[in-house]
Amino acid sequence: MLVSCWSSKGGSGTTVVAGALAAVLGRRHEEGSLLVDLAGDVPVSLGMPEPPGPGVVEWLAAGSDAPADALGRIEVPAAPGVSLLPRGRGMLVDPERAELLVSILALDPRPVIVDVGTFVPHDDPEIDSVRRAFVLGATHSFLVTRACFLSLRRAINLPFRPSGIVLVNESYRSLGGREVADVLGAPIVATVPVDGAIARAVDAGVLASRIPRSLTDVLLDAA
Ligand SMILES: Nc1ncnc2c1ncn2[C@@H]1O[C@H](COP(=O)(O)OP(=O)(O)O)[C@@H](O)[C@H]1O
Ligand SMILES: [Mg+2]
Repeated sequence: MLVSCWSSKGGSGTTVVAGALAAVLGRRHEEGSLLVDLAGDVPVSLGMPEPPGPGVVEWLAAGSDAPADALGRIEVPAAPGVSLLPRGRGMLVDPERAELLVSILALDPRPVIVDVGTFVPHDDPEIDSVRRAFVLGATHSFLVTRACFLSLRRAINLPFRPSGIVLVNESYRSLGGREVADVLGAPIVATVPVDGAIARAVDAGVLASRIPRSLTDVLLDAA
């Protein structure tokens, strides 16, 4: 199972949702989970040092020269039950190899959660083609969004739709879950509260080792 988490606006909570989902599912599965970082914020959000070695960027760039076990060697332990495939350094290029990577990851016996990051509408499609492969090839493609008009407008202008929406719920918004689901044509699969405990866990680097209670149950039901 490959779950891609993405957003249409920075600061939506995508990295938090992806990290917490990987931690929740990793505890559920004997073999743990694999968290794939395409945006680059995962190490900091989990309170770990920047992995010094290669990552997805380098695996893509290596082409067919990459040894068969290269992906496994790139992984680093990130949190209890969670391994991380780091982003690496440089541009994510080679969409065809990205499709291969997606199909390899989809066959992984562990749940694979991908932090795809933010898509900016009207950006050069070439630039985003690698990350787009992860959205289009995912078992579940989750848009993480607040009920924010700007985010929703941007999401509508993207050339793909999510299979599900993770709503980061701010109590003061006038738009509710039903409107968000209607506008985007996809179901709300989880409603995550805006909770000070979540923000503090991120700031303290303990999001995945001490998952805030307000995240565990809602995310378990999502995937
Ligand atoms: N559910 C939440 N409750 C409280 N704060 C949150 C929540 N989700 C995210 N945040 C805060 O917002 C910041 C940005 O979230 P992040 O996951 O990095 O967004 P994105 O990856 O979409 O840019 C986090 O550092 C955290 O402090
Ligand atoms: Mg992020």
